[in-house]
Amino acid sequence: MNDPAETLRAALAELVDGLPPRQAAQAVERLIANYRGDTPTDAPILRDRADVVAYAAYRMPATFAAVRSALAAFADAVPGWVPGGHVDVGGGTGAATWAVGATWPGERPVTVLDWAEPALALGREIAGALPALREARWRRARIGAGLTVEETDLVTVSYVLNELTAADRAALVDGAASAARAVVIVEAGTPDGYARVIEARDRLVAAGFRVAAPCPHSAACPIVPGTDWCHFAARVSRSSLHRQVKGGSLAYEDEKFSYVAATRLPAEPAGSRVIRRPQIRKGQVLLDLCEPDERLRRRTVTKRHGDLYKAARDADWGDAWPPEADRPAS
Ligand SMILES: C[S@@+](CC[C@H](N)C(=O)[O-])C[C@H]1O[C@@H](n2cnc3c(N)ncnc32)[C@H](O)[C@@H]1O
Repeated sequence: MNDPAETLRAALAELVDGLPPRQAAQAVERLIANYRGDTPTDAPILRDRADVVAYAAYRMPATFAAVRSALAAFADAVPGWVPGGHVDVGGGTGAATWAVGATWPGERPVTVLDWAEPALALGREIAGALPALREARWRRARIGAGLTVEETDLVTVSYVLNELTAADRAALVDGAASAARAVVIVEAGTPDGYARVIEARDRLVAAGFRVAAPCPHSAACPIVPGTDWCHFAARVSRSSLHRQVKGGSLAYEDEKFSYVAATRLPAEPAGSRVIRRPQIRKGQVLLDLCEPDERLRRRTVTKRHGDLYKAARDADWGDAWPPEADRPAS
């Protein structure tokens, strides 16, 4: 069977193989410079094929991995549910459509909306490699008050909010909430990215959604603004283009991201969520948890806890805690 992650990697490698190495590296450098400004623009940043090839080769593996990780946590909270349709808003070259395909294999109606025609064109081209995406529709649309999102099961919005004005962010989240039964929003794992996720989370909850992941509850986030930010990490293998642009020989990098997955479906959020990398000490594991009573707590799991201690040694940043099997029946 086709593994979407592997298929995507191969499709992107083929794309870069078609470019002279210097040209690819220059396009990436231009892209990084353009994305440094965090202010919304009046026109697409991804203007031509060189821009979108650079975006796809350089950023898409990381945005794919972040969305994949957010969707995995969401899927755990809605066991047995499979989206019957998907709309990816600000979808660009389609990273989130690949992540949805990897999370819930199979065919479904898929629509990608973006204002950058070259991004849509390349997304369509790469998607030819994955049978489930061959019928996807790639449509030009501007996010703002005039945006209509067709009714669907799942809307994804990945790495888009930071490119929008406050009014457009609000219009997008409200539009997604009225169109879909589940909305998954992913942003960079920075204090600003987290703040935009919280703003969207508040709007989704006000629209009647329940937070399914990462939070164990839908009440206010217990993090005091300005003191910390909730974020996670997804491991991404570095491509040869990455090494060329960034130097160094590391085989991977950790993509930091913040996210919220909210739904009108019945959901079983995690008992608690591991919100930092666990610290393994001799005979004990320290877990920083976001807990269902709306508090952050550090818990120490020791050898005396038996199987739970074994589970804690395997626990990872971003995991639900305790693991499924140890969760009290509700
Ligand atoms: C950083 S890229 C993210 C692409 C993709 N979602 C991903 O995760 O890889 C941001 C995308 O948002 C799109 N975008 C930004 N502002 C937009 C707007 N006002 N209307 C439509 N698309 C917009 C850009 O064209 C670009 O494709």
